[in-house]
This record gives sequence, structure tokens and C-alpha cells, in this order.
Amino acid sequence: MVLPSFFHAQEVAAVAADFERIFPQVERHPTALRQARDDGQARFHARQFAHFENIPFACSPALNLAAVHPALIAMARDALGTRDVRLYQAQAWAKFTGEADYDQPFHVDYNNHTLTVPAEDDVRNSITFFIYFSEVTDAHGPVHYVSRPDAARVGCGPDAYMLSEADVQARLQTVGQACIAPAGSVFAYGIDVWHRGSNLTAPYAHRYVMTACFKRAGNDSIGYCAWPYHHLKPWDTIFDHATPEQLACFGVPLPGDPFWTTLTLARAQHRRPGWDMTPWREALCKA
Ligand SMILES: [Fe+2]
Repeated sequence: MVLPSFFHAQEVAAVAADFERIFPQVERHPTALRQARDDGQARFHARQFAHFENIPFACSPALNLAAVHPALIAMARDALGTRDVRLYQAQAWAKFTGEADYDQPFHVDYNNHTLTVPAEDDVRNSITFFIYFSEVTDAHGPVHYVSRPDAARVGCGPDAYMLSEADVQARLQTVGQACIAPAGSVFAYGIDVWHRGSNLTAPYAHRYVMTACFKRAGNDSIGYCAWPYHHLKPWDTIFDHATPEQLACFGVPLPGDPFWTTLTLARAQHRRPGWDMTPWREALCKA
């Protein structure tokens, strides 16, 4: 599903400025495509991910809170059939013309989101928001995707693993669509949806994307990273600017949760002095 211009112009401008800040050293290459096929492994060559970073980022709150925009949280809740959702992946990804050959084969993402396979019931899976923070034309590396009905129509539904790779690619090529959309647009998809990256061909061009993956709280079959593993990153930018509902997406208990006591409030405030814990304190007073 493509949601054009989901983020408004001021939000896009603030996030794009943050991309400039966190990926500043990039030389802009002209039209010539540097072929990353030297080792014959261009499918998901490391160069495609040269400017790819996990949240939080050393920049303003704009990019740090983009993945937990209240409207995205609302959509995740609808899609997953629960109010209690968790953000389990959030990455900024910049691509630049000539930095790599960004062409990928069609693939599905479940291999690094679960150790098994996608559930038949969508709410047991997850939803990924792929957010463009720069305009994406056909020459700016649009993501190409195949809708579930189209995939089924060409025989590439959930049991496509029974076909050869070459056969799958050939069939999907006939129904793939490019997600060409203005900055601020969102492509929402599941871990079972076929998609692929494509090359940037516009001279000196870039493509800025943020990914945000949500799952139901308590769904241990889906995962990607544990946020505390990244504890040395600048979390205060998020804690000092996020709402309780946004923090809950990272697993921070909501105000009123039994986790919060006088002692845990004091300890948390000591760890994060800039965090406004008023809602948590007030909820404890009312309890
Ligand atoms: Fe992918």
C-alpha cells in the first residue's frame, strides 16, 4: 500500500536536514554507475548498505522520532489489531548515485524478521513502513513491489519456494510496480510481500529512506534487534522529546504501569536527567 505525502513538507524538510547531518561525508558521484559486481554478489552487496544506520541518531528529534510518528503508530495498531505495539526495527538509509549498484532481485523480508516463516494470520506478523524523505522518481531508486493478489496471480504466493529462483524472478518481473512518490510518502508492506531495490540513475542524486517495523507487544516470534543492545547511542534525544505512547513503542512502560514505583522513577530520572517524567509521577500519585 502506498500512502503519498503522508508526512507534511515541514516534517520532511526537518528529517532531510538530519539525513545531511548523519551522512555528511558522502561524495556525490556523477552519472557513471560504479558496478558493485566485482565479486559476483551484487544481489545484496554491502555497498548498498554503506549509509545505513540504526536508531537513535546523532541529530535532531525530527529523524529520531519519525518512526514513531503518532499517525504511523495508529496505522500499526489498526494493522495489527491491538493498541499495544512495539517498534522493533528503525533505520535510516541513504543511497547516492554511483555509490553502489542498488539493483536487487525480488525478495521477501521474513528471513531476518523471524526464524521460521510468516504466519497465516497477518496480525501475528508485523508491518513495515518504508518512508521516503526525498522525492523518488524512476531515476531515484524506487522500491519495486508486487501486491499479494498479483503475486498469487502469477503463482508466487506463499508457496513460491517450490519454484526455482529464476522462475520466481521471471514471473514477478511481469507484475512488479515501482513505488514512485513524493518526499514524505510511505510504502507499507508485510514480511511476506515481494519487493526489491533498484538503481539510482539520476546524476548526483540521493534517496533518503527511514524504515519502521512494528509488531504486537509480546510477539516473540518476530524480532530484529534489542534496543538496550544499542545503549551507547544517543537515546536522550528520544527520551527528552517523546510522548509516553512513543516511548511505549520502544518498550518503556506507560504511566500507571506497576513497573513504576517511587524508586524506579528516581532511578530512571537519575539515568536520564532531561526526561520529563511528569506523566509517570502523576500516575503514581493517583494510584
Ligand atoms: Fe527488503
